Amino acid sequence: MYKRYFPEYKDHIYLDNAATTMTPVKVIMEYNYYWKFNANIHRSPHKLGQEATEKYEQARAVVAEFAGFNSNELIFTRNTTESINLLANALTLSASDLVLVPWTEHHANLLPWRHSIADIEYLELDENGYIDLTGLNETLKRTKGIYDRILISFAHIGNISGIQQPYKKIVTLAKAYNALIHVDAAQSIVKYKYSDVDFVSFSGHKLYGPTGIGCLCVNKKHFDKMDTYQVGGGIVTEVKKHGQTYIDGCGKYEAGTPNIAGALQLQKACEFITELGREELLAYEKELTIKLKEIVTPVWEDGVNIVTFKTDAHPGDVATLLGGKNIAVRSGMLCAEPYVKSIDERGLVRASISFYNDIKDIEKFSKAYNEVCQLLTK
Ligand SMILES: Cc1ncc(COP(=O)(O)O)c(C=O)c1O
Repeated sequence: MYKRYFPEYKDHIYLDNAATTMTPVKVIMEYNYYWKFNANIHRSPHKLGQEATEKYEQARAVVAEFAGFNSNELIFTRNTTESINLLANALTLSASDLVLVPWTEHHANLLPWRHSIADIEYLELDENGYIDLTGLNETLKRTKGIYDRILISFAHIGNISGIQQPYKKIVTLAKAYNALIHVDAAQSIVKYKYSDVDFVSFSGHKLYGPTGIGCLCVNKKHFDKMDTYQVGGGIVTEVKKHGQTYIDGCGKYEAGTPNIAGALQLQKACEFITELGREELLAYEKELTIKLKEIVTPVWEDGVNIVTFKTDAHPGDVATLLGGKNIAVRSGMLCAEPYVKSIDERGLVRASISFYNDIKDIEKFSKAYNEVCQLLTK
């Protein structure tokens, strides 16, 4: 029923939505920037420049509202990966800071922390894929008072398990110990708004928006403790022969000319999702996911819209042969190599649902999957 919004969705059975989502017509057609007010922002006094600035800031306000933040709390980046790198750098982490992160995370929420000099402790998951809250509590109790800052960073919905972590409980725990929270919302921003957390990261291309744009939301109380990330034009109040002063707030993290057209398209994507209704879309996806779980046995039973499974044949062969039948799934390490390898050294296969999938897609997947399994076990 939702396919009509997506012109590309014709011949494919697209079940690779955890990697990227398709783009609706409304977002594709949002190229007013190039037609009507193609100018640089925050620096040009002319009419075009003024209009471009106004629209860009309007986009910031809409996307921030969609994420649960204020317009002066959203930094435009390239994607989730850049958002987390920005955060890990701008926090100027030192050896007297501690980052608590599940070892099972997407590489984007692992490597930037490893790259810093902060101490890292890895959080464990239980056998169903949920963060072990007793373990987290004990870690927070044990490390209290030892570090200047403790930051808990986790994906609200996991990219291979599809498990939705109990984010409210984690927030309560963090508050009790005065720890900061960063939510990697790459897989969950379409479904949820965030409040009560310090930092949130997400990408446009997993939110039915364009590639090349993402966001880092920062509770504004943290800005005065954050250093610059990339530096250059557009983020300064004054540059002298020796020395410079930077502007405050979000703009300080958007050096150079940003992806203005991308911000406007992302605004459209957020409006599109809001119009359709986040709760309705989630309920629909959950129902369809149950049907998918009747065909393949997921490693993580509770995945919201992601079904990741083991295969007797090599996972790469399964995904390639399915691809040959126009069924798009992912296979391999799924950018979470430690977690995937702990289950199967060869990798896993992941099918992920979006609201533009329907029961016919699931039936076609079922038929193709059975054929592929038969072929590979001959
Ligand atoms: C949970 C999670 N975090 C981070 C990322 C990285 O997103 P991007 O490649 O858009 O930076 C992904 C992408 O799959 C993801 O699923």
